Amino acid sequence: MGLYSHFLVLCLFSVSSVTCQVTEFISIDCGGTSNYTDPITGLAWISDNGTIMKYGKSSEAQISNGNMQYQRRRDFPIDSNKYCYTLGTKERRRYLVRATFQYGSLENEDAYPKFDLYLDTTKWSTVVVLEAARVYVKEMIIRAPSSSIDVCICCATTGSPFISSLELRPLNLSMYATDFEDDFFLEVAARVNFGALSKDVIRYPDDPYDRIWDSDLAKRQNYLVGVAPGTVRINTSKHVDTRTREYPPVKVMQTAVVGTKGMLSYRLNLEDFPANARAFAYFAEIQDLGGNETRKFKLQQPYSPDYSNAVVNIAENANGSYTLYEPSYMNVSLDFILSFSFVKTRDSTLGPLINAIEISKYLKIEQKTDSKDVTVLNALRSLSAESASANEQGDPCVPAHWEWVNCTSTTPPRITKIALSGKNLKGEIPPEINSLEQLTELWLDGNFLTGSFPAISNLLNLKIVHLENNKLNGPLPKYLGSLPELQELYIQNNFFSGKVPSELLAGKVIFNYEHNPGLHKEAGKKMRLRLIVGISIGTIAGLLVVVIGSLLFLRNLKRKTSHQKNEVQGLYTQTPLSYLHVASQVFVHFSSALEFVR
Ligand SMILES: *[C@@H]1O[C@H](CO)[C@@H](O)[C@H](O)[C@H]1NC(C)=O
Ligand SMILES: *[C@@H]1O[C@H](CO)[C@@H](O)[C@H](O)[C@H]1NC(C)=O
Ligand SMILES: *[C@@H]1O[C@H](CO)[C@@H](O)[C@H](O)[C@H]1NC(C)=O
Ligand SMILES: *[C@@H]1O[C@H](CO)[C@@H](O)[C@H](O)[C@H]1NC(C)=O
Ligand SMILES: *[C@@H]1O[C@H](CO)[C@@H](O)[C@H](O)[C@H]1NC(C)=O
Ligand SMILES: *[C@@H]1O[C@H](CO)[C@@H](O)[C@H](O)[C@H]1NC(C)=O
Ligand SMILES: *[C@@H]1O[C@H](CO)[C@@H](O)[C@H](O)[C@H]1NC(C)=O
Ligand SMILES: *[C@@H]1O[C@H](CO)[C@@H](O)[C@H](O)[C@H]1NC(C)=O
Repeated sequence: MGLYSHFLVLCLFSVSSVTCQVTEFISIDCGGTSNYTDPITGLAWISDNGTIMKYGKSSEAQISNGNMQYQRRRDFPIDSNKYCYTLGTKERRRYLVRATFQYGSLENEDAYPKFDLYLDTTKWSTVVVLEAARVYVKEMIIRAPSSSIDVCICCATTGSPFISSLELRPLNLSMYATDFEDDFFLEVAARVNFGALSKDVIRYPDDPYDRIWDSDLAKRQNYLVGVAPGTVRINTSKHVDTRTREYPPVKVMQTAVVGTKGMLSYRLNLEDFPANARAFAYFAEIQDLGGNETRKFKLQQPYSPDYSNAVVNIAENANGSYTLYEPSYMNVSLDFILSFSFVKTRDSTLGPLINAIEISKYLKIEQKTDSKDVTVLNALRSLSAESASANEQGDPCVPAHWEWVNCTSTTPPRITKIALSGKNLKGEIPPEINSLEQLTELWLDGNFLTGSFPAISNLLNLKIVHLENNKLNGPLPKYLGSLPELQELYIQNNFFSGKVPSELLAGKVIFNYEHNPGLHKEAGKKMRLRLIVGISIGTIAGLLVVVIGSLLFLRNLKRKTSHQKNEVQGLYTQTPLSYLHVASQVFVHFSSALEFVR
């Protein structure tokens, strides 16, 4: 952190602050064909072609407001997938994230695109294009929840989803801190520069953080209407000290509006409201007040006892003219239509003054898919570098699940299905798979997986397991037979060995285990009986050979001792060799009987 602050200070005091900020900012021209430096801002823009975004196609905008980044856009396929840009962040650092959308094409179709924008798994906004020439700007202020964020586009209801640009701007330490930042992002709803000198926005390099300050001269529906009579625009070329917490640009503070008839009022629509909001008002006295002049006023609307009773005396509150006073409403409930007005107090000689406002909506951060589950999916992806499954972006489950997984709809989401049949996976099934407690289906068949049977003893919801046509080896774990939900287990064409747990053969589970040369059934009750019979027959046969052999031996002995007894033993008139033959024949017969029993 120390290193970084040092770096920032260096930037601010060096002449080449532009090139310095370029390394800190990420500016992606979506659909752009080349990298370039923006002549207006001096910022370096990079094209998303290929390395940053592999999907969609670059389209030319027929109408464009002159800025390079709006000349082309990236159109994504109309399908059920999400398309995500991954931006590197520093965990717990605050950033401004901005996505812009200028469609630019006059469609013959009856509807312009309408689709959803997500930041990680949090729904940011629905982008609704109503005018081809308008640039729709979506800004979010976040404290980075991890070392990267995903900005995803999905779920088109009309037209094809698209994006024009994507920007990431780190903020200074004090800026936009709230008590709620662990659980909420801040979606910027309005940031208005009053008394602006032109219709143009103010941004970098006037704002070193590249916030976009809209001009109050810009014309669009329901934007700053209901202006009180007697509202006058004022400006100064004197420096305004803005070094407090939020650092609004000096240029924004050098202009203001004054209610010369004692009142200032405005009305504007706040997109995605009603909601709880963080509202900032930026005041700086930029008129030289005479000795007998005072400027004191109160917030009249929306009425809130805490703020409406407080008297604003800018110069006093800010401890001097040309100095920023930035009262804030850290959590205020606002409607879709925001009407606000300031009125001067009776004893004030001058009417109210305002330089700028900023209103952001608190947006609850949605949980990402269980991190243990994501670890497993990443380990599985690493088994197949080239297949499409390795390219899936963003969160596995939200807003749309990856093609090869399915998920629960719980928070956090959990993985229920893995479908990687025939995806060229090589290597061993990661042991972490045992932490996918909600898994019901595991399809890893038709790959080149090696190693032993995966550890799945904790997967009590598992119903269907397909591991056939791999190169897995070793024994089958005993607990397989007692997985409570198991319905289907296919392990044929592998190199498993040892005994099959007998429960798997009980008929409850559809179990295919053919062509595993080393695998055999466990010695159950029935088998033992067969074995005993087999052994007995074998023993008898062996005994017979011995008996006949001994008889033969005895006979020869008798022959030697008593030649006369030869005739008595009429039965055995043949040669000794033929006796042996008979004995072995008997043995062969019994052996095949044994084989038959088996
Ligand atoms: C643009 O810049 C990015 C990042 O520096 C780089 O990866 C990419 O190759 C460049 N593209 C072109 C077309 O020069
Ligand atoms: C990148 O640009 C080339 C030519 O400029 C184009 O053919 C290609 O489709 C583009 N790729 C993507 C992903 O937009
Ligand atoms: C950034 O923040 C530091 C400390 O909070 C402050 O000293 C510095 O002046 C700030 N810089 C700018 C440009 O706002
Ligand atoms: C700025 O203020 C001066 C008077 O101080 C005025 O003459 C000038 O017209 C103002 N400029 C704009 C653009 O409003
Ligand atoms: C704001 O106040 C409301 C009501 O007092 C409360 O429910 C909410 O949690 C607070 N914070 C945010 C970020 O909305
Ligand atoms: C303030 O003083 C000026 C002269 O310096 C005078 O013209 C003006 O009338 C005074 N205003 C009030 C409200 O007293
Ligand atoms: C107000 O400003 C004066 C000098 O302009 C300074 O002496 C004084 O300490 C400041 N007061 C506060 C509360 O900052
Ligand atoms: C995903 O799971 C849901 C229920 O959780 C089910 O309705 C849907 O059909 C599943 N989709 C796929 C592709 O398996």
